[in-house]
Amino acid sequence: MSLADSLLRQLAERVGTPFWVYDGALIRQRIADIKAMTAAPGLQARFAMKACPATKILREMRAAGIWIDAVSGNEALRAVHAGHAVGNNPPVICFTADVFRDNALDVVLKHNLLPNIGSPAMIAQLAAGGYKGPISIRINPGFGHGHVNTCDTGGPSSKHGIWHQDLLAAKFAADRAGFDVVMLHAHIGSGPKIQELHDNLTRLAGEFAALIPQFPQVTAVSLGGGIPHNYRERDKQTDVASLAKLFAHCREVIVKAAGRLIRVEIEPGSYYVAPACTLVTRVHDVKQTRANAKGAGATFAMVDAGFVDLVRPAMYGSYHQIDILGKDPAQGTEPIVVAGPLCESGDVFTRGGADEELHPRQLPRPEIGDLMVLRDAGAYGYAMSSNYNSIGRAPQVWIEPDGSAELISRRESIEDILKPETSAPIAL
Ligand SMILES: Cc1ncc(COP(=O)(O)O)c(C=O)c1O
Repeated sequence: MSLADSLLRQLAERVGTPFWVYDGALIRQRIADIKAMTAAPGLQARFAMKACPATKILREMRAAGIWIDAVSGNEALRAVHAGHAVGNNPPVICFTADVFRDNALDVVLKHNLLPNIGSPAMIAQLAAGGYKGPISIRINPGFGHGHVNTCDTGGPSSKHGIWHQDLLAAKFAADRAGFDVVMLHAHIGSGPKIQELHDNLTRLAGEFAALIPQFPQVTAVSLGGGIPHNYRERDKQTDVASLAKLFAHCREVIVKAAGRLIRVEIEPGSYYVAPACTLVTRVHDVKQTRANAKGAGATFAMVDAGFVDLVRPAMYGSYHQIDILGKDPAQGTEPIVVAGPLCESGDVFTRGGADEELHPRQLPRPEIGDLMVLRDAGAYGYAMSSNYNSIGRAPQVWIEPDGSAELISRRESIEDILKPETSAPIAL
């Protein structure tokens, strides 16, 4: 299901292009899917808010009883701003990181958040900061799979977590510092296939079951996120109903090994939000390059969104379906490269995965003034947008099922861009 073309056209007139538009009903549907997967006793879902940290979305999560995984001090503060409870009992906001940057340690201390540490030295850093509470340890179990290699979150090449063979040393360090290890955590990435998630999580639950007897204070285990969304075939989404059984089974295995009740958590990010947002952009020109000794020519649709808005295709070759409003592919298509406004030759939405080649998309011939939409832009979309080229982030719009629209963030202005600049002297 996609928002009506007529609505997108109206919004383009009102807020200008490019802009992001969220389908509230679809986000609520995805929240309901996750609630159904975690309905069995002892299961708890979090939202990995890095995927899409808008207050509006955080409030939807809070209303649905979804807890938060925050990865920076400011993310945690955004969750607090949206009304999520502070404190570690229950640990509604969990702080996961491999490095305490900026205000992170202060926020953990001030709001008594559960720190989920991904690097051994963080134990001493917590102690030096005066922290006195429980901790969670993020493990790199040595296996896992991201949707591309740079997103691999488990294995020798991953920077995340404490290597599983170093876990006991970390536990002893925590004991010496007076920290109870109350949660064990691993996020092993989604990979593109649901079967892979099943296999990986079953294996992970087995690993946690083997470890848990050595952690008498553990009350929770997190299996991380990574529920896949099918970006390429939008109408063929995997049936995620089987995950309810899988999570309940993982919990059973862990509870049996522990010999006591253990809360099992999941913390998806993308699944909640990926399909619910569309990036709408306008075609400003259509131009050609021509074949020469260096290669083939191409037709470029020059649009006003770029990788400052949606960076996933440029960063790791991610695929987003592209449609041109009012143009039916059944009437004929041709290979089109969709490129943005940035002074950067990599500012192209139609790129391959592993290679850096252009992958022209079969699209109807675009014309100047057409609206083009990039689908499934809700996860790591606006969240990863930047101010490169001083362009300013595009506005975000939220649509309710009754068709009403709300501007949830406005277009950034030159004043926003200049705001952090100062000429304050630094006393040395
Ligand atoms: C610790 C942690 N949890 C959860 C997630 C969410 O993953 P996904 O968006 O694939 O569900 C991530 C993503 O990088 C993560 O690093």
